[in-house]
Amino acid sequence: MQENVPHAGRGEAGGEAIPHWHDPGSEAMTVVEGEDATVYDDEGNAYLDFVSQLYCTNAGHSNEAITDAMTAQLERVPYVSSAKGNDVRDALAADLAEIAPGSLSEVYFAISGSEANESAAQIARTVQDAPKVLTRWQSYHGGTAGAGALTGDPSTRSTVGRYAATTGSGKFLPPLPTAFDADSPEDLAEQAADHVEFVIRNEGADSVAAIMMEPVGGSSGGYPAPPGYFERLREICNEYDVLLIADEVITGFGRCGDWFGIDTEDVEPDMLTFAKGVTSAYAPLAGVIADEWIGETVREEGYDLGQTFAGHPVACAAGRAAIEEYDSHLIDDVRELTPLLESRLEELAETHDAVETVRGRGFLWSVVFADPETGEPFVHPWSADEEEAENPVAAVREAAADKGVIYGSGRPDVQILIAPPFCVTRSELERGLDALDEAIEETVE
Ligand SMILES: Cc1ncc(COP(=O)(O)O)c(C=O)c1O
Repeated sequence: MQENVPHAGRGEAGGEAIPHWHDPGSEAMTVVEGEDATVYDDEGNAYLDFVSQLYCTNAGHSNEAITDAMTAQLERVPYVSSAKGNDVRDALAADLAEIAPGSLSEVYFAISGSEANESAAQIARTVQDAPKVLTRWQSYHGGTAGAGALTGDPSTRSTVGRYAATTGSGKFLPPLPTAFDADSPEDLAEQAADHVEFVIRNEGADSVAAIMMEPVGGSSGGYPAPPGYFERLREICNEYDVLLIADEVITGFGRCGDWFGIDTEDVEPDMLTFAKGVTSAYAPLAGVIADEWIGETVREEGYDLGQTFAGHPVACAAGRAAIEEYDSHLIDDVRELTPLLESRLEELAETHDAVETVRGRGFLWSVVFADPETGEPFVHPWSADEEEAENPVAAVREAAADKGVIYGSGRPDVQILIAPPFCVTRSELERGLDALDEAIEETVE
């Protein structure tokens, strides 16, 4: 405890929000306006937003269909208790059941992705009467205590776990070439899935309620699964009576070219979680879509938990309008521009020695960097001298921002993440990728 610290009187101290993921070594941009795929800072500079802020403003920054729906709801009734029924909440649940895979139809709303994942874990533990949820190393499922325990990113886990016990979770290896010694993608899928079976057996299948996974890794590195991986996991889950939960917080609502990332794998999970893109981030909203039998069990047995703002009617109105926008044209727009994005990124990997690989799907990609001399990441949380090391990947992002394009940073910061809003135009996409190409050339070559 600090003693004898002089305190300012009421109203004397300057007030300013502390940015999330605050890094004292760098200054966060102040964004004051947005239009389509562009945002403006407080000095009037325009930036193409190639990370949709936090992979969430999928419909861009000025979609009138969404704002009109929110205004209409605000004027009708702005808030209804989450313990009561509400027409717009039920209507959104019906919309979600229509687009969700197979028999996923029961919706339990939350507010953030972290809380959606905690709810899915809680529901899984309850219906399975088992304590553990297993997740991958190199994953991100949220930053609150429960979701932080599920997250496999070392810095999130150590921030959460340093002062409080994180229980009821376990980890397994992601299906990445660096984690296994595989000869082909198919071999990698088999080895990685066999490893999950090994972990479930060793944890004790009776103690495992569920495994949870991002269909395409998000901030943990844009990595899709090798072919056959999810199919095999589905079989393992059936065999050991373990639920399969897809964390679709980033990958949902067209981000990877289908309604949900798991759709591309042709596998039906028992639950999926959503947040971010459901309202195109026009209001906070998240939730769990569960298989019919899980919803029925929860309804029959009762569920004595809740949150005030879960399923907020204004957010639900935004969600209904956003889904209509995705359905009418935005997902088609993603599919149309994906080949351009993919081929330009592959060119980057061929041109620049420091680009180790590019990977992703649809409008979610990661450009992974490595030191061409050693083949190792320039900076990594595992390395002892991370604090002192210069990170050229951060410098690439800064150089791109100087050229008017914002890119995302992954966890760990060995990569640049690309997740443009779906309304980005062909010429904006070209311009953004030119800026990245030049930024790499100037910074790391
Ligand atoms: C895959 C995934 N799951 C969960 C979360 C947590 O969502 P939130 O930040 O809304 O709590 C995130 C956030 O980035 C995410 O990327």
